[in-house]
Amino acid sequence: MTRKPIFAANWKMNKGASETEDFIKSFLSKIQGENFPCEIVVAPPFISLPKLADLLHNANAGQNAHAIQIAAQNCSQFDSGAYTGEVSVLMLREFFVHFVILGHSERRAIFGETDAMINAKIKKAREANLKPIFCIGETLAERESGKLEDVLRTQITGGLEGVSEKDLGEIVIAYEPVWAIGTGVTASSQQAQDAHAFVRSVIADLYGADAAAKIRIQYGGSVKPGNAAELMACPDIDGALIGGAALESQSFLEIIRHGSGSPE
Ligand code: PGA
Repeated sequence: MTRKPIFAANWKMNKGASETEDFIKSFLSKIQGENFPCEIVVAPPFISLPKLADLLHNANAGQNAHAIQIAAQNCSQFDSGAYTGEVSVLMLREFFVHFVILGHSERRAIFGETDAMINAKIKKAREANLKPIFCIGETLAERESGKLEDVLRTQITGGLEGVSEKDLGEIVIAYEPVWAIGTGVTASSQQAQDAHAFVRSVIADLYGADAAAKIRIQYGGSVKPGNAAELMACPDIDGALIGGAALESQSFLEIIRHGSGSPE
């Protein structure tokens, strides 16, 4: 089973419209004429989506502009109405958004998102044909107390409750150990591979071996140019979700090149 690797930049609450423009112009100028054996996704803050859509989809967008796909960092589980501060999936569609990061550990820990809310958002995203990047991962305390597999299984079964196998085919899972996010501490490639193999086995239990073999599982947590190749060489790791190291176009590009084995 060949799965196309997917590299996604999660900018979190960084880069307004003008910094988005600087990054994209610089990134596009560096990838002139290149073809990558992977998908490349950029997730800016909501407020920068119109600028990103414009840069990538207007008539004058340069060569390779379409090499980049757009993600949002969140979406509402509701359609429209009295939900102050929320953004709906249909609003995202207007800006050529194709992916949406859901269940990120910062959303879970800081904004109180539960497995049930994440499940509702995944379903809402699929109604609008958005592809969820569904994040799961354990804290250090959970890992150290032997709860890694329980935590991952609970997050996966809760997040995917009632999601059809067809919709699962449009979902990417991002395994992000919370202790590795933004800390500079990366999971060893063995720790990452073991967790990814376990995630795939849970998908096999829920949806069968075929679906498990097809689903892409990204690794996230302090991915850098220097560790991308080793992590991506693991058989169950299909790309990366990158925070800090994706804020600079050069290091994002180096991760993509090292991680996808494409030429320098
Ligand atoms: P990091 O963030 O690469 O800065 O660790 C990853 C993420 O939160 O998705």
